[in-house]
Parts: sequence; structure tokens; C-alpha cells
Amino acid sequence: MKVTVVGAGAVGASCAEYIAIKNFASEVVVLDIKEGFAEGKAMDLMQTASLNGFDTKIVGSTNDYSKTAGSDIAVITSGIPRKPGMTREELIGINAGIVKTVSENLIKHSPNVILIVVSNPMDTMTYLVHKTTGLPKNRIIGMGGALDSARFKYRLAEALEAPISDVDGMVIGGHSDTGMVPLTAHATRNSVKVSEFLSEERLEQVAADTKVGGATLTKLLGTSAWYAPGAAVSGLVQAIACDQKKMFPCSTLLEGEYGLNDLCIGVPVILGKDGIEKIVEIELSDAEKAKMQESAAGVSKTNGLLEL
Ligand code: LAC
Repeated sequence: MKVTVVGAGAVGASCAEYIAIKNFASEVVVLDIKEGFAEGKAMDLMQTASLNGFDTKIVGSTNDYSKTAGSDIAVITSGIPRKPGMTREELIGINAGIVKTVSENLIKHSPNVILIVVSNPMDTMTYLVHKTTGLPKNRIIGMGGALDSARFKYRLAEALEAPISDVDGMVIGGHSDTGMVPLTAHATRNSVKVSEFLSEERLEQVAADTKVGGATLTKLLGTSAWYAPGAAVSGLVQAIACDQKKMFPCSTLLEGEYGLNDLCIGVPVILGKDGIEKIVEIELSDAEKAKMQESAAGVSKTNGLLEL
């Protein structure tokens, strides 16, 4: 199993680290345009192998895509991250060109690759990859919901004063401050609905804090977060590499599911060896459906800014 991570910045390096530590891939190639940078990150990470007990070989490359040849899965993290006060949508101008070039180069050397898009605005970048590469939809996956759900569980555990392992919950919709739809009515603590423990107001606060999860970190860090994004990506990569058939919310092309068409947005999917093996349609309340429609309108508006 060979995995490529494009972009050796904080998110890309964190992806490579978590994938390596989980020890399911034989090789991880990290590629960056900055001379020597990916090689340096790869060497530093390789020097953790004996300490952290993994055998995955990590290789760095300065923009030489021939090193990525034969990748089963590739993660696209390249582009600029947001600065405090910026929305993910404001990155579209620069990142669209980068994501288009990167995906074309990856497919040239790995025609059977499954692509995981992380660059922002993520749902629109995932749609761009659909529009420009012609890959089947099961092989184009946008990573947002897995991260947003992890942030939701963090906030739920905080509100419940419970360990995170007690908590389950999911965020669907667009990966944006206004587009996320945390499914508070479905969230549970050990199979008991969290509404049994938390007031409606407290749950609304949990949802609001979840939606600005990335922005809160960007303000604190001066750039966007990397540990949780890297861990979320590694979970998706492992589910595909190990054919786990696990369910995650991911951004995928919708063709009528959830009453939506011609956009990529976060919905629950089953991930296995073929990438997105199934889109799971869960029953939503009228209020949740309305939030999903509003979220989709926002994503479509950003898609409209693409020069396709
Ligand atoms: C975040 C970026 C990765 O939410 O979109 O932290």
C-alpha cells in the first residue's frame, strides 16, 4: 500500500506522521514544491520510526511526481492555509489552480489512485477535481466531516463532562463556518441521546462552537490547525487501505441523494478498498433538511466562483 501526501506543510506532515504511526502502509511519499522541504520532513519523520515503532518508509520529493508513481491513495493538502479572520472560501483563487495541477500530476503517475482532498475551500476543491479529472466519483473524497465530527465530539464531551470515548456524533454539510450541520439530535452518550443530559441551549452552544472549530484554532495559532486534520485524514486512508467499510461523513458528489445535485458536500459514506463504496441516506428532520439545503446553497455559490 503506497500513499502520497502532497504538501509538506503542517497538515501534510501531520497526515504522513499519523499514517506512518498506524503502520498499515508500506510507503508514504511526501511531496512539496519548496526545495528540500519534503525531504527534510521525511527524514525527520523516518528518524521517529525506531522510537514510535513503525516500519512505513517515508520518502520526500521536491515536486518530482515520478516518485509518487503507483500510489493507491493520494492526499492533497497543498495550497495556502487561512490566516486569522479569513474564511476558507477566500482561499479559492490561489488554491483552485494548485489543486487542479496537483490532481492532474498525481493521476498521470497513478491512474488508479483514490484522491482525498483537504485543501480549502474543501467542498469546492473536491468539486473542481470532479469537473477536471474525470475520475469516477467513488475515487474522489473530500475530507471535512471526519474532522468536524471529531471537533463536535470534543465539544460534546466537554459539555457532558464525559470522556470522549463515551460520546458519538456526526457533522454533515459543507466544511465551512456557516455550512456545517452538527447532528445534535442524533448524538449519543453510550447510546443514550445527549438531549437527555443537555439543555437545548447548551446543545445549541455545542453546535455553534463546533462550526467555528477551525476558526477558533486559526485565531489561537495564527494559521489553520494540523493535528486533528492529520488524524482525520489518516482515519480515512486507513479505512480505504484496510478495506474497513467504516462510515464517515465525507464530501462526495451528490446526484439526487438528500435532494441535492451537482455539488460535493459532506454526507455519511462507507469507505473501503474502492473509496466511497456507498452514500448512506439517513432520515433527517425538517429542520435538519432545511439546514442542509442552506449549506448546499452556500457551497454552490462558492462553486460558482470556479473558472471551469
Ligand atoms: C480546519 C481546516 C483544515 O478546519 O479546514 O482546520
